[in-house]
Amino acid sequence: MAAVVRHRYDLDPHRTVEVDALPVPEPADGEVVVQVSAAGLDRGQWHLMAGRPYLMRVMGFGIRRPKEPQLGLDVAGTVVAVGGEVTGFAVGDEVFGLGHGTFAAYARVPVAKLAHAPAGVSATQAAALPVSGLTALQAVRDRAKVQPGQRVLVMGASGGVGSYVVQIAKAFGAEVTGVASGSKVDLVRALGADHVVDHTTTDALDGSVRYDAVIDTGGHRRLRDLRRALTRSGRLVIVGSETGAKVLGGMQRQLLATLWSPFVSQTMGTFLSSENAADLDALRDLVESGAVVPAVERTYALDEVADAMAALAAGRVRGKVVIEP
Ligand SMILES: NC(=O)c1ccc[n+]([C@@H]2O[C@H](COP(=O)([O-])OP(=O)(O)OC[C@H]3O[C@@H](n4cnc5c(N)ncnc54)[C@H](OP(=O)(O)O)[C@@H]3O)[C@@H](O)[C@H]2O)c1
Repeated sequence: MAAVVRHRYDLDPHRTVEVDALPVPEPADGEVVVQVSAAGLDRGQWHLMAGRPYLMRVMGFGIRRPKEPQLGLDVAGTVVAVGGEVTGFAVGDEVFGLGHGTFAAYARVPVAKLAHAPAGVSATQAAALPVSGLTALQAVRDRAKVQPGQRVLVMGASGGVGSYVVQIAKAFGAEVTGVASGSKVDLVRALGADHVVDHTTTDALDGSVRYDAVIDTGGHRRLRDLRRALTRSGRLVIVGSETGAKVLGGMQRQLLATLWSPFVSQTMGTFLSSENAADLDALRDLVESGAVVPAVERTYALDEVADAMAALAAGRVRGKVVIEP
């Protein structure tokens, strides 16, 4: 089968990412094999390709070169083989979830990270949901604990995670302000944001409006600035940001927020998203109710994954892009 691989870390996807021929995988116990209809691209795949920040390498992904040559996490497609100890899924089921090496014709997916595909959306849209959607859901529901009527500020509202945060916070009844750069402001408005701030001309953190929650997925602003935009009991949820820093990738800000939080009236912190089937089911419900529509800008073929990675790294993507084998 055709599969996207890379054998070393490199900041330039065009120097490393290629399509190779690999055997079709077999499912282990607790897994299915999915014929991939579509596979969403997320920032994490860029980090795995680049080997940055270095912190990621020591977390088990391979110090000098990647341990796993394949790329791709999000997936939507059709179950073609079922491993032992699998219940609830059968050959022919349309599914979405988080698998191994999903930029390929076929991929293994653990059932603990798998759900039946939402009705009423394409496989391409379903493939854009898993990692960004789960992260957004957990940021809004579990970390910001958004309640109806609250004011929520979304930094990076035009991005993969941010585009879902806007929609999910609206679904939770919040008044949502999305922050994006000029050409992406229209997208954020179309996603349902009540207010949109163009960060190239206006500072959303000037303190003129106080928010019950700030969900930060982009911009890497100082904690001091982010706090200024919060109510006294507001919550700051740092999802992440791209700084290009080699070693920690800007993680110090998340660490500082966590350490500082007990000494201020506001709650500040970060989290690593949990990849689990129950929240994929919750995402499916949000999609089927019409509250969430994946914002897919365009699709790329397997031999165009390097182009997709380059577009993401350059900040040219609006919402999500999806790979279609
Ligand atoms: N904690 C976790 O478990 C977890 C899970 C997933 C992702 N992440 C991290 O979260 C971050 C966001 O991920 P993503 O997939 O949403 O990335 P993305 O699709 O690249 O979106 C990031 C957004 O940041 C915005 N941005 C850039 N500069 C900005 C500025 N100065 N002010 C405000 N916004 C700015 C960009 O929009 P504009 O061009 O419109 O400004 C872009 O849409 C990444 O660092 C990723 O690694 C963490």
